[in-house]
Amino acid sequence: ADERLSEEEILADPVAKIAAVGGTRHPSIPLPVELFAPQRANSMGIDLADPAILSATATAVNRPLTAAAPAPVGDVAAAIGRAHAFFPTWQATPLDTRAACLDRLADLLERDRDHLMAICVQEAFKTIPDAIGEVREAADFCRYYAAEARARLRPVELPGPTGERNTLHIDGRGVWATIAPWNFPLAIFLGQTVAALVTGNTVVAKPAPQTPRIAAAAVALAYEAGVPRDALVLVPGGPEVGAALTGDARVQGVAFTGSTATAKRIARTLLEDEARPIVPLIAETGGINAMIVDSTALPEQVVADVVTSAYRSAGQRCSALRLLLVQEDIADSLIEMLAGAMDLLTIGAPGDPTTDVGPVIDRAAYDKLMAYREEVRPRWIKTVPVPAEGLFVPPTLIRLNAIEALDREWFGPLLHVATWRAGELEKTIARVNAKGYGLTMGLHSRIARAAEVTEAAAAVGNLYINRSMIGAVVGSQPFGGEGLSGTGPKAGGPHYLYRFCAERAVSVDT
Ligand code: NAD
Ligand code: ALA
Repeated sequence: ADERLSEEEILADPVAKIAAVGGTRHPSIPLPVELFAPQRANSMGIDLADPAILSATATAVNRPLTAAAPAPVGDVAAAIGRAHAFFPTWQATPLDTRAACLDRLADLLERDRDHLMAICVQEAFKTIPDAIGEVREAADFCRYYAAEARARLRPVELPGPTGERNTLHIDGRGVWATIAPWNFPLAIFLGQTVAALVTGNTVVAKPAPQTPRIAAAAVALAYEAGVPRDALVLVPGGPEVGAALTGDARVQGVAFTGSTATAKRIARTLLEDEARPIVPLIAETGGINAMIVDSTALPEQVVADVVTSAYRSAGQRCSALRLLLVQEDIADSLIEMLAGAMDLLTIGAPGDPTTDVGPVIDRAAYDKLMAYREEVRPRWIKTVPVPAEGLFVPPTLIRLNAIEALDREWFGPLLHVATWRAGELEKTIARVNAKGYGLTMGLHSRIARAAEVTEAAAAVGNLYINRSMIGAVVGSQPFGGEGLSGTGPKAGGPHYLYRFCAERAVSVDT
């Protein structure tokens, strides 16, 4: 293993030439010390007495945020050159050695959990429960893909009538670009990256411009875990860096998570150069996710699941509930209960363990969400007060006159609600499907037939019945959508690694 590098060293990499600059992006987050008192309860059931959590939150507040300047676009080519030159060496590295790096990385993520949580809180404004989940999921991805690689990527002898020895080899393809969003700056950033690495590819990894430091921390740990520096090169930056990366013909595959619009842009870039090989694009994108509630559902459970699905993480999950569809017979009473539950949300600083809903990621997101919210003011059913200072978008419930009226993903704590008529479940699902997205859908019903109908009709990657719609578990609930929501294969699922690979059949006449 290379010696341990600090995040500063990673950010100051001679190829990426990242200059660390000081400054906080969210100076208005106060963190009263008394909030750390162990007796304070957190509505997510987090044990506030856990010393690890206390130290993580304390660090988050005391350390100034460090942002990173983007990599000069000209240097992206050099980063790709490094990964390209190293590919044969990494490809020849035994599968077990590569997988062992991922297992070690999972251990290191757990060792440094507090520190990583602190950066997630500070840089991405994660709440404490979300920061815990972020580190947990990142470690799960590492262990799961290590185990999957060992189980699935070995050469296979194929029996058959040819009388020859036929072997299928599953190898890496070359350099992969992994491009991540800010909302899962550790778990998704690392999940995509380690999947590409364990399959024998080298990687040039671009985090979202909002979250370079957590990516740098992850890459530092990957090096410590034994991943060679030329097998994984970090290039922080925004769209220009991403475009330079995907536009380089030496890149043999792109694993992207982000918005649908950016995925389409990348798809076009990959096809621009006629002479370029056709390379795989794994794109995991957004959704207009609906939950359908019928009159047999348990109202208390529905309300709890709606609040979690729509407002936790300030609605900044691709899986989040955007469109609540309630059978008209129970709509009034359910909405009243939901409005009451919204009053109980604690909105505040992300580092405060009692916070349910923190700020949104940046000023641009805040302005966009607030402008839309203002536009639909006549249709507000319920909104709740937020702290006066900071990028807090008030959780809001918005009436929708027709399912079709919501035609884009609003990436924040804004939930739309419409009604449907008894007997029109299939028709309602068809109207949601017609939007063309297909990420998550929820159903709350105690009728077995309703569950069967929904399972058959819902064109989504992840269907959740009688539970919340967020928090897919690696290995048990493979995650990813279809249609405008993504290409698959599903992250954290048994088919994911194959898409990073080249398959080669060798036939020997014995
Ligand atoms: P985004 O599309 O703006 O950016 C995602 C990444 O793409 C960033 O690293 C960005 O710098 C990069 N990028 C932007 N333009 C590029 C270009 N032309 N070429 C290459 N790279 C480019 O998305 P975001 O705002 O960071 O993330 C939020 C979006 O991500 C939401 O739409 C959300 O639904 C989606 N998301 C999807 C999943 C999933 O698993 N389906 C998970 C998390 C987030
Ligand atoms: N995998 C994340 C979730 O399920 C996006 O919420």
